[in-house]
Amino acid sequence: MNLTLKIWRQKDANDKGKIVDYPVSGISPDMSFLEMLDVLNQELIEKGEEPVAFDHDCREGICGTCSLYINGRAHGPQTKITACQLHMRSFKDGDTIYIEPWRAKAFPVIKDLIVDRSSFDRIQQAGGFISVNTSGNTQDANAIPIEKENADKAFDAATCIGCGACVASCKNSSAMLFVSAKVSQFALLPQGRVEATDRVLNMVKQMDEEGFGNCTNTGACEVECPKGISLENIARMNREYLAASFKG
Ligand code: SF4
Ligand code: FES
Repeated sequence: MNLTLKIWRQKDANDKGKIVDYPVSGISPDMSFLEMLDVLNQELIEKGEEPVAFDHDCREGICGTCSLYINGRAHGPQTKITACQLHMRSFKDGDTIYIEPWRAKAFPVIKDLIVDRSSFDRIQQAGGFISVNTSGNTQDANAIPIEKENADKAFDAATCIGCGACVASCKNSSAMLFVSAKVSQFALLPQGRVEATDRVLNMVKQMDEEGFGNCTNTGACEVECPKGISLENIARMNREYLAASFKG
């Protein structure tokens, strides 16, 4: 396949940035999208040019780092997959492909296609954990019976990989789907109830301080989430927040 790539290049956080055209040829439909970018970067290095900076780690849909906006969609044209799981057979010979970083005030561009998502880490640190006494008297987790429905919902919420596609695809750059997944994964389990009040208040406070927008129920986040995290989690977080506000 021969393609024209239109890629966002930006030297650093202060650079204005611009789209630069790169033709690539000899791309196999069986290559992953990131392998196609590797081919381009190899060519750029051989020509003595600066390779395109992009984030990646696991390349199997687990780590959430491959934050690419491809042809106007977070993680590209397929649903429920990350950019690293996207293959070139999803495109046609002769296609023009736009590749941009996530766009959100709370995710500033570091270089080219790499954004700073440490705002997500700070939200997690504000409450996305449980405190466990490890003095030797720790209760076996399986000793507490949990309803199957709640266990399944908690597990589904826990599959959020913190990629940020929900923020990137939201017109308000809202992080509600991410935060609600993190709140829900604990709120649905007895182990998470102990700190539930502080957790939701602190995580929402941190989310607001980071500059994410609010949710206006458009639902783009759910459509573009590679893990299929449900909007139900946002409703649960809102209920948790309301109850916690009365208590707190
Ligand atoms: S909710 Fe989905 S889109 Fe948002 S960070 Fe988690 S996995 Fe990514
Ligand atoms: S590189 Fe880890 S999810 Fe894509």
